[in-house]
Amino acid sequence: MKSAKPKICVVGSLMTDLVFRVERLPQPGESMPGKEFGLFLGGKGFNQALACHRLGAEVTMVGRVGRDYFAGLFLQKLAEEGMRADFIFQDDEVGTGVACPIIDDSGQNAIIGIGRANMRIDLSQVEAAREEIESADVLMLQFEIPYPVSRRAAQIAKASGAIVLLDPAPIHNAGVLISEEVDFIVPNEIEARALAQSQPVELWAEAEVKAGRSGVVISLGAEGALVFDQQGRRQFPAFPVQPVDSTGAGDAFRAGLAVSLAEGKGIDQSVRFANACGALACTVLGAEPSMPRRDRVERFLREQEAA
Ligand code: RIB
Repeated sequence: MKSAKPKICVVGSLMTDLVFRVERLPQPGESMPGKEFGLFLGGKGFNQALACHRLGAEVTMVGRVGRDYFAGLFLQKLAEEGMRADFIFQDDEVGTGVACPIIDDSGQNAIIGIGRANMRIDLSQVEAAREEIESADVLMLQFEIPYPVSRRAAQIAKASGAIVLLDPAPIHNAGVLISEEVDFIVPNEIEARALAQSQPVELWAEAEVKAGRSGVVISLGAEGALVFDQQGRRQFPAFPVQPVDSTGAGDAFRAGLAVSLAEGKGIDQSVRFANACGALACTVLGAEPSMPRRDRVERFLREQEAA
């Protein structure tokens, strides 16, 4: 660690989630009544930053929102949580990003997102946050902001010795080159398949490690997580929970992984901690409320060991 507390910088998205709960996901062309509606703060970047903060890291979130009602909700939440907002840039012309997670009775989700202001963050804003990126132990990136912005942040982080962790979601950018600065690629199963293109996922992951990545960690939801690194391939089972809403569970998983790696823990211990974070996040409706706090995760891990 570069200082007493693990330090994480997230350069990523903030999206307001308009959540619809439904019995099952609709078919194309079908109109169906929903069961419940909720408005939650989300966006992969924001969820990961908030989760890292709640897990005990010192976090800087770098992102762009509009100058609208939704932006106000984010600024208020960051203040309530005691998080800095000095690298949340505001766009006068384009509104805050929005997403529409649809959650079925099994807790599964499908998400439509529109980046809006997130897609207007630019290189000058990454430069403005340079010192924050340079002093971080881990830089977390996703695919909800323009690729050149993420790439520049990764270059700055790498030059200062930070671990760069990429969540390649959403994967509309399939086939995009994952830059050499990325240490850990952390896709879900769908994203891993898209990145592997025509080859089997395992071969793709092994080739990434052979080419110099520190690791590929594939989150598998209820099946846990698969790790590929210099030690080979290992699967870590998920912790059993009653799922309510899996929106943001992947973000909690990635935050757990990042915080634990920033604390200097090994990958196996970090993935177990990440699995606990992801499991707990599935038990609460909405992304922001479901990001777990450190004491809850540690208690959960003790309960699981005792059981
Ligand atoms: O990973 C979950 C997040 O993805 C949601 O909060 C939604 O905003 C989308 O960006």
